[in-house]
Amino acid sequence: MKVKRATKAGFCFGVKRALEMAERTAETSHAVSLGPLIHNQQVVKRLSERGIQVVEDLDELTSQQALIIRSHGVAPSVYQGAECKGVQVVDATCPFVQKAQRLAAESAQMGQQVIVMGDKLHPEVQGILGWAGEEAIPIQTVEEAKELPFYPHLAVLAQTTQLAENFAGIVAELRNHTDDLIVHNTICNATAERQKVARELAEAVDVMVVVGGRNSANTRKLASICAERTKTYLIETADELENVWFEDANNAGLTAGASTPDWIIEEVFKKMSEMNEQEMEMSSWIDNCPE
Ligand code: F3S
Repeated sequence: MKVKRATKAGFCFGVKRALEMAERTAETSHAVSLGPLIHNQQVVKRLSERGIQVVEDLDELTSQQALIIRSHGVAPSVYQGAECKGVQVVDATCPFVQKAQRLAAESAQMGQQVIVMGDKLHPEVQGILGWAGEEAIPIQTVEEAKELPFYPHLAVLAQTTQLAENFAGIVAELRNHTDDLIVHNTICNATAERQKVARELAEAVDVMVVVGGRNSANTRKLASICAERTKTYLIETADELENVWFEDANNAGLTAGASTPDWIIEEVFKKMSEMNEQEMEMSSWIDNCPE
């Protein structure tokens, strides 16, 4: 069995950058993040071993701590809250998310009704809405867009991880709700690229392994894309791999969600390759076995 790795998998630029900033901060300060820096239990555990603490509320912070802003970004109220408490802020907001926040704020200031396409419960969307002001509206589907009234000026932007096809559908519907629509395509390529590479790989192999947090939306999405094309298993660590999955496979593919670190991908790849070698040894032993 040949094991093929997706050429684009694992941490995106923004997540990698945020983790590096957090680890550098932890070397000199008492670093704290508001919510986990990343949706991956193994990484969160490793970060806590390096002294990076997770809090759920600004009220839990003290002035001796350094607040790491996650790659998802936050609303302006969080910066203000941190400033009031005298907390040092290390801003690891992904520059692509920062761009979406800036466009949302500018559009609102220009009097445009801001629509943010995305999951309204996701921290990135909540942060962008904070920059766009109270009037901004989050929507996820074309059906929700259909319910909007007519506005003189509309601006629409997207959570960075949304699918381009879905955004295009929303944009098309919004054209029926204004004569002046400004479209800010704030979708980040990292997600689409990973999905495209995973799709192509899944089409070429007998079995796919997707590594990532079960609570990570982008990992689950990758797994569902692969599952539409081949037998697919979602795992969090190499320990979960089972020989039986690869019994009839000539080749297997490996990809990982955007919150999966290289060291976990490497462990899984190594174990899959070792399972493969064991299987080959076993079959050559059976071939040579005297009757
Ligand atoms: Fe940034 Fe794109 Fe990752 S927006 S956090 S590089 S998915």
